[in-house]
Amino acid sequence: MFMRKTAFFRGLFVSLCFVGAAAFWGCTPEKQAVVSQEADGESVYRRYCKQCHGMAPPPKFAPPIRGLAIHYREAFSEKEAAVEHMVSFMQKPDPAMSKCRPQAIKRFGLMPAMNVSEEKLRTVSGWVWEQYDPEFKQRHAKEHDH
Ligand code: HEC
Repeated sequence: MFMRKTAFFRGLFVSLCFVGAAAFWGCTPEKQAVVSQEADGESVYRRYCKQCHGMAPPPKFAPPIRGLAIHYREAFSEKEAAVEHMVSFMQKPDPAMSKCRPQAIKRFGLMPAMNVSEEKLRTVSGWVWEQYDPEFKQRHAKEHDH
């Protein structure tokens, strides 16, 4: 009885491993793609944007990312449209296209065009959109006007 039970459990264990391995090989590539897309947004930010854009105030050379996310959420209801707009803005900044309040450009100057691939700009723009934080929005409304 004891032996049989162990054999049974061993069999169960082996088949679970097999199912687990199948699930591992079958599912992870897709999952990894999602994760690395998010991670990429942040790494593009660290590499190309962070020197000017902090995440939160006080700002150094440019509006913080969380503030930008607020303005883009106010200006666009769809992420896709916001991303498209950010990408074209970064390729060819134009005050007429700005979704920040005019004070931002007055205070910080116009953002320089980014010499970064469109794919990276798209990834980082999606990431910026996701940095929206409703709590920050309330503080933002109280503390400053751009
Ligand atoms: C050399 C400094 C600098 C770098 C590097 C930089 N930015 Fe900016 N960015 C600015 C300044 C200054 C503004 C505010 C004035 C403006 O809107 O042009 C700005 C504005 C923006 C805006 C709002 C545009 C608008 O007015 O609607 C977005 C979105 C943005 N940056 C995203 C990025 C991202 C993403 C990166 C990295 C790929 C990046 N920036 C890199 C300086 C920079």
